[in-house]
Amino acid sequence: MRLLFLGDLMGRSGRNAAIEALPGLREKLKLDFVVVNAENAASGFGTTSKIANQVIQAGADVISGGNHTFDQKDILSVIDNDQRILRPVNYPDPTPGRGYAVYDAPRGKKVLVINAMGRVFMNPLECPFRAVDAVLKKYRLGVTVHAVLVDFHGEATSEKMAMGHYLDGRASLVVGTHSHIPTADAQILPGGTAYQTDAGMCGDYNSVIGMDKAEPISRFLTKMNRERYTPANGEGTVCGTFVETDDRTGLAKRVEPVRMGPRLMEHLPEV
Ligand code: FE2
Repeated sequence: MRLLFLGDLMGRSGRNAAIEALPGLREKLKLDFVVVNAENAASGFGTTSKIANQVIQAGADVISGGNHTFDQKDILSVIDNDQRILRPVNYPDPTPGRGYAVYDAPRGKKVLVINAMGRVFMNPLECPFRAVDAVLKKYRLGVTVHAVLVDFHGEATSEKMAMGHYLDGRASLVVGTHSHIPTADAQILPGGTAYQTDAGMCGDYNSVIGMDKAEPISRFLTKMNRERYTPANGEGTVCGTFVETDDRTGLAKRVEPVRMGPRLMEHLPEV
């Protein structure tokens, strides 16, 4: 199977860039399944049901989240019923929504998607390692599901790498989100799991991690909050991770970054 993961849609720039690119990417990369992290799609803070639907219409099968999942209260109207929208699995039990689901892909294939969130420099949720482990006790890659994609939303590269190795051999792809900067370490781990520490955001890279530059710089200089953060609205760059899996084992045969847009060195896999 061919899977694409797109990193955090950041504000209007990010969602417009991704919505515009997705139909072409689905065709060009012959994609079977697409997951998009949209937790910053609504002006940087959460996503709305309307935006989630637009991204799904454009070609996403699943929308994942993170620490901003619940910023827009509107999402509460759909998150319990619409299983295409995920929040991190390691939120405590009474939290609305779900952290994983199994989805139908073309040719009778089943794809398990898990969204989890790190705890280093983040809100201390339940242990993400044990939470993902519990899900993977129910589903086995290459046996009950054909692909397993894990979006690990975290700040620390160490925690994300540890998760990659912890799941090596049990997932098709473990990809990090949240830092908004793509890392250059896309690789297949020894056990066959594709891994990239961060997919990078879809958004305007003439910014401070997607936000207009003035306020973040001012906060670093003065330690004062003068204004709200607002997303940078220049042309967006699309960033993500492309994986091709072995149909028999579900493990990765190939992993490559995807970068399309005006500011980063472009890279689009040849299919
Ligand atoms: Fe985040």
